[in-house]
Amino acid sequence: MRTCQLNINQISKVVELHELAFKGFFLTELGTSFLNQYYKSVIQSEKALNLGVFDENSKLLGFAITAKNSKGFNKSIIKQNFLGFLGIAFKLLILKPKAIYRLFINLEKKSPDIKDDKGNYSELLSIATHPNKQGLGIGKKLLIETEKQLKSEGYDKLALTTDYHNNIDVIRFYEKSGYSIYYDFITYPTRKMYKLIKTI
Ligand SMILES: CC(C)(COP(=O)(O)OP(=O)(O)OC[C@H]1O[C@@H](n2cnc3c(N)ncnc32)[C@H](O)[C@@H]1OP(=O)(O)O)[C@@H](O)C(=O)NCCC(=O)NCCS
Repeated sequence: MRTCQLNINQISKVVELHELAFKGFFLTELGTSFLNQYYKSVIQSEKALNLGVFDENSKLLGFAITAKNSKGFNKSIIKQNFLGFLGIAFKLLILKPKAIYRLFINLEKKSPDIKDDKGNYSELLSIATHPNKQGLGIGKKLLIETEKQLKSEGYDKLALTTDYHNNIDVIRFYEKSGYSIYYDFITYPTRKMYKLIKTI
């Protein structure tokens, strides 16, 4: 197994693994072209840290995508890839108008009520291990390597959001790696989330 930075030639592998690991999730339901655009934009961004774990046959076993600075990250990647996102937005407006509203209203993944959350931390945007390879230490390896690389660049906190309900296994996974609850909040329309954080 090797851990390395993801590059644009690996976007389809990341999207494929996302679709397997996040079945039924909101972003997955937005479709493959949305996921391609999203991961392409993030993987090309210098403001993101994108790690993959591959086996000896270059099969992607897991990935972790992190915004080095949470504050303003989503807006900056949309700005940098405006035409690509505009095309997807038009498509979604016709096919899934409610989804596009939900996407934009939840662009900032934090609570407007938590006044001391200024987004001054790095943010893990997506982490997944291939369903056949879960429980073997790949997720933990990705978290450790992400934290190590962020720390070496001078970042000192890593946060993430995860579902509040029916998600005890994933919450346990993060707690075992030293993450604790920062606060909980509701994303539009009614999805309750935890914001977890760790000083790295
Ligand atoms: C969450 C996820 C990334 C964990 O990756 P993983 O490779 O299976 O996790 P690891 O094998 O590295 O486990 C690390 C630790 O967490 C624990 N853990 C992992 N999954 C667990 C589970 N389902 N229940 C209880 N503990 C779990 C492991 O026992 C291990 O503990 P240890 O350090 O004491 O040995 C993976 O399950 C996944 O891809 N899930 C689907 C996508 C997802 O929900 N991502 C998170 C969105 S917020």
